[in-house]
Amino acid sequence: MSNLRQYAPATERNRQPILEILQQVLPSAGTVLEIASGTGEHAAFFASNLMNVRWLPTEQVPELRESIQAWGESASAKNLILPPLNLNVGDRPWPVEVDHFTELPITAIVNINMIHISAWEMCGHLMAGAERVLSAGGILYLYGPFKRAGQQSAGSNEAFDLMLRDRNSEWGIRDLEAVIRLAEAHRLQLVQTVEMPANNLSVVFRRM
Ligand SMILES: C[S@@+](CC[C@H](N)C(=O)[O-])C[C@H]1O[C@@H](n2cnc3c(N)ncnc32)[C@H](O)[C@@H]1O
Repeated sequence: MSNLRQYAPATERNRQPILEILQQVLPSAGTVLEIASGTGEHAAFFASNLMNVRWLPTEQVPELRESIQAWGESASAKNLILPPLNLNVGDRPWPVEVDHFTELPITAIVNINMIHISAWEMCGHLMAGAERVLSAGGILYLYGPFKRAGQQSAGSNEAFDLMLRDRNSEWGIRDLEAVIRLAEAHRLQLVQTVEMPANNLSVVFRRM
């Protein structure tokens, strides 16, 4: 089973700083819905270190769901990691919204390194889904690189942005202010932003 586990080197570098923020901002109970779980390394690490919540990983790519499943089975907190769901934020309803879904309440949504690697409209779908799925007080946590007031925060982010746009003209590093405006339109209020290593940000919203 372990040979299905895939590795993304960035997750080893960013998981500890992200965990330290999650420990401060996540609700103390319930289910955390992770959107765009990728390899599943984050899911295994966070679930093993956040023992009071259940972790519900999701991923649209089938091979990555196999990797998430394998990481979940190898994790120390496997009872807290639920099997990965197939979720593209542009789909409606999300699988967690259908009648038979029982892993409630979803008290937080975590989304790491996705909104710059998908079309801008997907950020809107993410916010709309968070508005539907979270109850008042629920948390939406975003992590990744952001522009501020139209400016890149570092030369490395500028080069990364060019590389992303070259790969797909709909991708690119997002403006923090535009993301906040979109969130507010979906009853998600900014709680805090935290500077993270390698010119990334944690951005935390609370459902009003
Ligand atoms: C750079 S990877 C990040 C994966 C993981 N969160 C991490 O940090 O290692 C980007 C992820 O976004 C996912 N993704 C892209 N567009 C998406 C969409 N519309 N809905 C859900 N996930 C999406 C991809 O499948 C991929 O897993």
